Amino acid sequence: MPRENKRQEAYESPVKAILTGITDLFRRPVEELELEGVPDLKGRKVLITGASSGLGFATAVELARRGARVIMAVRSGIPQKGEAVKQKSGSALVDMIHVDLSDPGSIDTCIAGVKERFGSLDVLICNAAVVTNQSRTTKQGLDEMFMVNYFAKFLLINGLIESGCIRMGGPEKPRIIIVNSESHRNPEKIEWEAFGIYEPYGIKKSVSMYGYYKLLLLTMANELSRRLNPEGEPACPVAALCPGPVNSNIARESPALFQPLLKLVFRIFFRSPETACRPVVYLAAVDQLQSTPMEYLFLMQRKPMDEKATDQENGRRLWELSERLREKIAGKGE
Ligand SMILES: NC(=O)c1ccc[n+]([C@@H]2O[C@H](COP(=O)([O-])OP(=O)(O)OC[C@H]3O[C@@H](n4cnc5c(N)ncnc54)[C@H](OP(=O)(O)O)[C@@H]3O)[C@@H](O)[C@H]2O)c1
Repeated sequence: MPRENKRQEAYESPVKAILTGITDLFRRPVEELELEGVPDLKGRKVLITGASSGLGFATAVELARRGARVIMAVRSGIPQKGEAVKQKSGSALVDMIHVDLSDPGSIDTCIAGVKERFGSLDVLICNAAVVTNQSRTTKQGLDEMFMVNYFAKFLLINGLIESGCIRMGGPEKPRIIIVNSESHRNPEKIEWEAFGIYEPYGIKKSVSMYGYYKLLLLTMANELSRRLNPEGEPACPVAALCPGPVNSNIARESPALFQPLLKLVFRIFFRSPETACRPVVYLAAVDQLQSTPMEYLFLMQRKPMDEKATDQENGRRLWELSERLREKIAGKGE
């Protein structure tokens, strides 16, 4: 089937994805946003998932450095990674909570723990993701990448809102930040009939499945913003971003034979997590987001999202299917 445009082929395979990431870095920015001058985060409580590694870890350090109370929601690295964030940032305001995002029960336990230990949050950063080298099922029979990279965010965000950890209507507006990827532009369409249904795939398809779940995630983020902010003035701004190619552990499941080469390419061409975390920190701190219901950044630039992600009918349908799956998993649906 002919592809709609070249961009849609850009993340089809691991090699194309790496080349696309590198060439994107060298494009001339239209307007570069500045992190210098954005307010500090003193008195703000920020929860970030996937803070044990790569982008999430570097973001946690920078947020703590800027005065935030940082809650690292992680499945590994307790307490060592938290101690490392304290040491690198010079801040003691760093807490950790366990969550395995492939397990809905663990997400529920995490939400209950957040409520009990920290009360309400000012900023939620959904950062964690995985690129599996082939499909894998969770205990609920879902594809692990579907669960961790898409559905866990739906469960976590809704659970934190329903439990009052993300509370609207107070003097300070909470905000929700989604770490996404330019690979959301790659899929041709959303496969409605296949939603939540496990279909095995191998390593060749795993990068395109990663992009597909990023499209679901960004479509959900747009719908979330419409639902939370039906009036002109936002009650809870939602923002998403692509950090560009990051020298992180994201390719940890690639074949052992390619690991040395990949590590070299990542080290030479990709951005350090400390540089790549700038748009995340910007969105967590900048005042202007208070009056913007939905924002998307690529690196430190505003960029239109793919139309499939902003399409209202797509958002409505995806939300409905996600709600149904949530009920099914909780044992209330068919
Ligand atoms: N690297 C890139 O080039 C790039 C480009 C565009 C977007 N991104 C996005 O940037 C974000 C961060 O990725 P990264 O590059 O920093 O990769 P990374 O170094 O592999 O970090 C991924 C994080 O997600 C966590 N995670 C994975 N599965 C989990 C699970 N089941 N439960 C809880 N946590 C889980 C990992 O925890 P463990 O340490 O316990 O495994 C780790 O902390 C992701 O959303 C990714 O899609 C990355």
